[in-house]
Amino acid sequence: NIKGFAFDMDGVLADTAKFHSIAWRQIAEEVGTTWTPELAENLKGIDRMGSLDLILTTGGMADEYDLAAREALATKKNDNYRNLISELTPDDALPGMREFLAELKAAGYKMSIASASKNAGFIVDRLGISDYFEAIVDPASVAAGKPDPAIFKAAADVLNLAPEEVIGLEDSGAGIQSINGAGEMSVGIGDADALSDADILFASTKDVTLANIKANWPK
Ligand code: BG6
Ligand code: MG
Repeated sequence: NIKGFAFDMDGVLADTAKFHSIAWRQIAEEVGTTWTPELAENLKGIDRMGSLDLILTTGGMADEYDLAAREALATKKNDNYRNLISELTPDDALPGMREFLAELKAAGYKMSIASASKNAGFIVDRLGISDYFEAIVDPASVAAGKPDPAIFKAAADVLNLAPEEVIGLEDSGAGIQSINGAGEMSVGIGDADALSDADILFASTKDVTLANIKANWPK
């Protein structure tokens, strides 16, 4: 019996995945890693230092950057990213998601956020949707980032719900692994190949409604 929803933020609620990509692409070009659509897709959902590690590993230069050099690159990426999101407004919510949140609230479901981003609180405030959520899980408080199940488990815990009572929504393959590993029902939004393990798949946030989810509700 579903009682709550756990949301990823970047690429699900907020149209900010494109800004992460722009900022990471700059770092990839600076260190000399070729930017490909595959790398862009694989970076989705991965935390800041994990993303940098993937960029360095993809370019075959993980050994060349010590912790101090990595921290400098991660800070540079975040400064560029913060610049890109500094003007976010409520219009930067993805199409249909504000309506979906209102629909869930009216129907009495509880909601939380399971984002890998340390910028989640800022973005949710800028979109004007913070009142919908009981809690935003602090990504620094979980033992391991997506694809590990810890963050989506925590997102059910903060709602005082069991994982079987929660639906998780994600735009990344790593996030779908996290939801499935936590024992929640997974809704993927976006690329069918990257999200092939999702229980329910939508091509766009515009298609995400309670009726469309219930139509696919596993019996
Ligand atoms: C995830 C994004 O939500 O947050 C990733 O999908 C990003 O692209 C990660 O790297 C961490 O974000 P931040 O804002 O803490 O660097
Ligand atoms: Mg995402």
